[in-house]
Amino acid sequence: MTQPLIDPFARPISYLRVSVTDRCDFRCVYCMSENMTFLPKKELLTLEELDRMCSTFIGLGVEKLRITGGEPLVRKGIMTFFNAMTRHLDSGALKELTLTTNGSQLVRFADDLYAAGVRRVNISLDTLDEKKFADITRWGRLPQVLKGIEAAKKAGLRVKINVVALKGFNEDELFSITEWCKAEDMDLTFIEVMPMGDIGNEDRLDQYWPLKDLRNTLAERYTLAELSHRTGGPARYVRLEETGQQIGFITPLTHNFCESCNRVRLTCTGELFMCLGQEDNADLRAALRDSPDSNTPLEEAIRAAIALKPKGHDFDYDRQSVAGKMTRHMSHTGG
Ligand code: GTP
Ligand code: 5AD
Ligand code: SF4
Repeated sequence: MTQPLIDPFARPISYLRVSVTDRCDFRCVYCMSENMTFLPKKELLTLEELDRMCSTFIGLGVEKLRITGGEPLVRKGIMTFFNAMTRHLDSGALKELTLTTNGSQLVRFADDLYAAGVRRVNISLDTLDEKKFADITRWGRLPQVLKGIEAAKKAGLRVKINVVALKGFNEDELFSITEWCKAEDMDLTFIEVMPMGDIGNEDRLDQYWPLKDLRNTLAERYTLAELSHRTGGPARYVRLEETGQQIGFITPLTHNFCESCNRVRLTCTGELFMCLGQEDNADLRAALRDSPDSNTPLEEAIRAAIALKPKGHDFDYDRQSVAGKMTRHMSHTGG
């Protein structure tokens, strides 16, 4: 038996998030600038290299694989990769294969994803207003995403909607989005906006809507019951007693959930980030490319990287400016 991956704070690492591309067909204002420069194709791990990387992690005990981007479904040939991962689900080594997507390509891919063994998808959607949707995503169009959501459900995929809570933007939609998710039988998670990328500090402080305020507003209409249930992700859940709905809150800023962190992130160029909020990373691509015939150097590089996993991040909005701000874009590490 190989030793499982355990970090210096005794946290077992069982969840790998993999960004398969830095590209996206949207330009959400809190994620990207309008004119992004993307990586040259040759910098990206090939589909075969992604397979080798993920399979090595699975061999070391990773049980949950979440594919992200950018928008993962704009990566050319991505279904080849999903189909290759099916063998790890079949063997039982991998417990969950899933993705986080903007939903724009789901009409095309939903059935294939289900066939590959995907059972849940997280879809980002911050507003149900067409005009606001076009404003926040710049290039996205709401009807296309709604069709994608329909296709996902029809294919048998369980859908979770991720809403980034933005002050003055979707505050007034709290109840309508909640009711919509209930009517459509979809899970719902609110996310606090994180200081990623190079948007100015003032904008960021303006946008920040603490989820404890959001919760208080929700409590004006519903009875909230705290749940202890976890999905292996960072969300904490409440149940709305009146509707039975489960609502997740991801609060990297007001609630520090780093103590129970079980995940690391692989970028599309093969860097391993041990924490979303820290710059520490390890170049796994070199370890992979330098030894095409043996995975031992890659395994050693992974273990060495995990041994450096930091205790947590330093994001903080409570001060005058945004502390612990990352210059890296979300699309680089995949959320
Ligand atoms: P499930 O619990 O499996 O549904 O997944 P998840 O919530 O981990 O995945 P999802 O991609 O939906 O994550 C939503 C968002 O949570 C991410 O895009 C990030 O904004 C945030 N997030 C996820 N993991 C971390 C983490 O380790 N640290 C911080 N600070 N934020 C995270
Ligand atoms: N802060 C919080 N969430 C973000 N996302 C993208 N950028 C940010 C940010 N700066 C979210 C997307 C999606 C997930 C992958 O990350 O809306 O739900
Ligand atoms: Fe694309 Fe998601 Fe970033 Fe929006 S948040 S630009 S959909 S990667």
